[in-house]
Amino acid sequence: MSRIVIQGGRKLEGELTIQGAKNSVLPILAATILHPGRSVLLGCPRLSDVEASIRILRHLGCQADWEDEALVVDASTLDRWDIPDHLMREMRSSVIFLGAILARMGWAELSHPGGCELGPRPIDLHLTALRQLGADLRDEGGFLRCTAQHMEGREITLSLPSVGATENAMLAACGAEGETVLLNAAREPEIADLQSFLRGMGCQVRGAGSSTICIQGRRPTHDVVHTIMPDRIAAATYLAAAAASGGQVALRRISHRHLSTVTAALHAAGCQITGGEGQLILRSEGRLRSIGTVRTAPYPGFPTDAQAILMAALLRSQGATVFVENIFENRYRHVDELCRMGADISVADRVAVVTGVTELYGAEVRCTDLRGGAALLVAGLAAQGTTGIGDVFHILRGYEDPVRDLRSLGADIRMA
Ligand code: UD1
Repeated sequence: MSRIVIQGGRKLEGELTIQGAKNSVLPILAATILHPGRSVLLGCPRLSDVEASIRILRHLGCQADWEDEALVVDASTLDRWDIPDHLMREMRSSVIFLGAILARMGWAELSHPGGCELGPRPIDLHLTALRQLGADLRDEGGFLRCTAQHMEGREITLSLPSVGATENAMLAACGAEGETVLLNAAREPEIADLQSFLRGMGCQVRGAGSSTICIQGRRPTHDVVHTIMPDRIAAATYLAAAAASGGQVALRRISHRHLSTVTAALHAAGCQITGGEGQLILRSEGRLRSIGTVRTAPYPGFPTDAQAILMAALLRSQGATVFVENIFENRYRHVDELCRMGADISVADRVAVVTGVTELYGAEVRCTDLRGGAALLVAGLAAQGTTGIGDVFHILRGYEDPVRDLRSLGADIRMA
């Protein structure tokens, strides 16, 4: 089933516990292979991207199984170093396995993850960092053959703070001899969660969350139990939904600090937000006002992943809001779909201007990508009438069960 139907116009009321973070669990699943033993992950969201990672782990020879609420990976039986093309294509972040396979096995073979719905997604920064550690990487027509029998730690400066390149370099550096210092590293909280997982296995990593990360090459020494951090973008989605529809929602298991740019924007738009570490309450009349220019930026700036979601919340605001997308080239594909619902949005290159309309109307729309799909949920909940959303497999890559969660807040929503 690949369609969600929403009867819009209801206020949202209630409490919700936020799922574990997709962008944290994916690199951590790659990291499990560094240790020839068991990793137990708690709070791991059941997402299609997680299932894709499990298929890669099993292909590599690991055991990866759900045991009640825990995802347990045993990488002691790992005996392969290749990832076939069909598994690489299932999700873009499969490339993070490269650094981990090299660190554990000394060689790796996998295909290029290629582009995606957000436009070209180059991996040049990943490859440059691994080469600097001493890996020999050959790109043969989109197929990567890599050997790294002896990697040596050194100072590596990323030319831009790429999240994936930072994670790949951290994992490879665990298998290098001596110290690696990563400069201009991405500062996203999910990287700090990866560090905390690696430390749990006995790796020596410090500095994650800042732009300098130091890794002392060292084989992991023990089994680990780790709880995945809460998903700040899922939290932003449910806040935006309540902001747009009106009502009052309390989110549990969130980090207020990680959401500060999103909550500041919603506050500026007229929502009341209270709470502290661990929980957050948002109250909204449903009718918001426009806000100052929203510019996406690496953390701690406004997250590109929340751009479409905030845009959807502001469709019925008073006045006009300007968005500037600085991270991905092709991140306004949801705009045409939102316009089918009556939104007034004009796009020129990386700038989008949202002029608030009095009402949105239900329509048949299609998800263009994961967060664009989440934006359609937010808009559908605030619209008059029935919205049918197609291609919801995009949404299920990042949201465990949005229908269950939004229903628990009183939304009229179902899979069809
Ligand atoms: C991660 C997140 C994604 C989020 C993005 C930016 C995961 C699984 N995904 O993606 O949800 O939207 O961070 O916060 O964590 N770039 C290069 N060369 C490279 C790598 C990246 O030019 O080798 C560019 C990209 O094209 C993009 C920018 O750097 O313009 C940021 O990308 P990056 O931080 O690497 O994003 P991802 O790790 O792919």
